[in-house]
Amino acid sequence: MDMKQKLQELHEEAVRKIQASEGLERLNEVRVAYLGKKGELTALLKGMKDVSAEERPVVGQLVNETRNKIEGILEETKKKLEAAALEAQLQEEVIDVTLPAKKAQIGHRHPNTIALEELERIFIGMGYEVVEGPEVEYADYNFTKLNIPEGHPARDEQDTFFINSSILLRSQTSPVQARTMEKGKLPIRMIAPGRVFRSDEVDATHSPSFHQVEGLVIDKKITLADLKGTLEEFARELFGPETKTKFRPHHFPFTEPSAEMDVSCFKCGGVGCRFCKGSGWIEILGCGMVHPHVLEMCGIDPKRYTGFAFGIGLERIALLKYEIDDMRLLYENDVRFLKQF
Ligand code: DAH
Repeated sequence: MDMKQKLQELHEEAVRKIQASEGLERLNEVRVAYLGKKGELTALLKGMKDVSAEERPVVGQLVNETRNKIEGILEETKKKLEAAALEAQLQEEVIDVTLPAKKAQIGHRHPNTIALEELERIFIGMGYEVVEGPEVEYADYNFTKLNIPEGHPARDEQDTFFINSSILLRSQTSPVQARTMEKGKLPIRMIAPGRVFRSDEVDATHSPSFHQVEGLVIDKKITLADLKGTLEEFARELFGPETKTKFRPHHFPFTEPSAEMDVSCFKCGGVGCRFCKGSGWIEILGCGMVHPHVLEMCGIDPKRYTGFAFGIGLERIALLKYEIDDMRLLYENDVRFLKQF
């Protein structure tokens, strides 16, 4: 077979294979098989040495033409295959912009948080600062500096989570009073919200972990009238301007005198209902004038300074404000419950 014929056949075979290629990868394999270094056309060229000198330029030109034709059809086929691949990809990735979007789920503030922010707003409005203290506390701050000496029944292990004999999970936010007074910056007007811990059984009104908001004011000439005025104002802000308050004598080791404050039932206006258990009053906080001995232990001269303190149970406020009848609901974190507030 002469060279011309071989080239003709090679060309036809290449074109057939190119057209039969089903993807870009296969096409490349065909290209390499014919035009590559070890390809068929290159192999043919090696046979040129057998061609006579006068025929060589003609055959050489023929080889080039064949190569060009194969390259041409390769290029053309490559473009077609690329276009088809792009089309297939576009088909697959089609986005329906008319589909409804996924709704972003926005969280809800916990009723405790809402109540706390309300309390903070009221006290900040009266010039108070918001401070924090540690949840793991020294017995010294939780008890001793608050006039609860060693051996006092309030330290009972039944009520308190001790870590060792001198460190515990604070059972109240009152230790923040001692910490603030010890800093020595007077006057003081602060509230200290936070988590407290007691070894209590869980029921509708008890939990081993709950929250309090402590309050402390220390300045010259602070009297019981300041305490009453402040807390009455607070109650009216929180529960409405018609709210009445009542102070009942009580005992706390770190205040003298001490009291508990009740507010007139905001549900029935004081007549008596299921909400206030028929009494017309609802207890909301403990308070009192800071005991002179506490002032002394915290480095403040009780002859020059006096003050008052109070402690509010945050959950109690949240339960009252949102008429929730079981404290456990506040800790279950059921979104269906939380999103009502
Ligand atoms: N710490 C008290 C408790 O846990 C609450 C309390 C009462 C705080 C009177 C005070 C206060 O600051 O003056 O029962």
